[in-house]
Amino acid sequence: MSTDKQYWTQRYEDALTGWDIGAVSTPLKAYFDQLTDKSLRILIPGAGNAYEAEYLWKKGFSNVFILDISPIPLALFKKRNPDFKASQLIEKDFFKHKGVYDLIIEQTFFCSFVPHKMNRVKYATKMASLLAPKGKLVGLWFDFPLTEDLEKRPFGGSIKEYIGYLNPLFDILSFETCYNSIAERKNKELFGIFSKKDIKPKQANNPLHGITLKTILEELVAKYGWEYMDEKVRINCFAVNPSINSSLKFLRKTPWAREKVEKLYLRSKK
Ligand SMILES: C[S@@+](CC[C@H](N)C(=O)[O-])C[C@H]1O[C@@H](n2cnc3c(N)ncnc32)[C@H](O)[C@@H]1O
Repeated sequence: MSTDKQYWTQRYEDALTGWDIGAVSTPLKAYFDQLTDKSLRILIPGAGNAYEAEYLWKKGFSNVFILDISPIPLALFKKRNPDFKASQLIEKDFFKHKGVYDLIIEQTFFCSFVPHKMNRVKYATKMASLLAPKGKLVGLWFDFPLTEDLEKRPFGGSIKEYIGYLNPLFDILSFETCYNSIAERKNKELFGIFSKKDIKPKQANNPLHGITLKTILEELVAKYGWEYMDEKVRINCFAVNPSINSSLKFLRKTPWAREKVEKLYLRSKK
């Protein structure tokens, strides 16, 4: 058993589940109530007893997935909701889970990780990687200072800190003090809606993406001729009996020369 799995399972066994409010939380219920598309693929990671999933399921959202590292809350959920699809109950470490969702719901999950910067960056990156383009991360993040005490969950944070982790990957649609928290959490939590940014893979910014070396050479030769190319890139295959084939062979195994030719090509396009 992994340490995290042991830790959380022990908490359930010892009934040390102070985070568990026993029902869908009011802010999430209000958010769910205005959703109209019941086919949304929704993930609730670190779902615990998952009252939010139960609420959604009963409202007819058929693609709700519950994920937790501990089997105990999942088994309890299944007992309460025997008709819930077993394939949508996932016992797994969030960071090892793969999938694509339209919506991910956060509630007292972020604050359960030891608050090292690395864990918080990992959380934001993993959330983004599990979302479809324009998918949303929605939920509640505690708004109280982080203390030095690494034994004392929930671990706090501030709006500024959360934005620092989430903003590189998400557009912030709203993030403010939650107006409809449960009494115990009033003024202690932020409600946020984040939309996954459309970050193009690096290749999209590469002006040579999709252009073969053969095309580059053919165009250069047609435009400048071998003599000029030999002047610009001093390699034998441009100087002695030059041909496209022999140049291709040489350039493919000589990165420094290939780079020079590619640069020449880019300059020729300006
Ligand atoms: C503080 S509880 C919150 C439960 C639930 N979100 C709620 O609001 O009642 C944190 C939950 O996250 C689960 N958890 C912790 N680390 C996890 C991980 N790496 N992957 C999946 N679940 C994890 C724990 O088992 C626990 O159920």
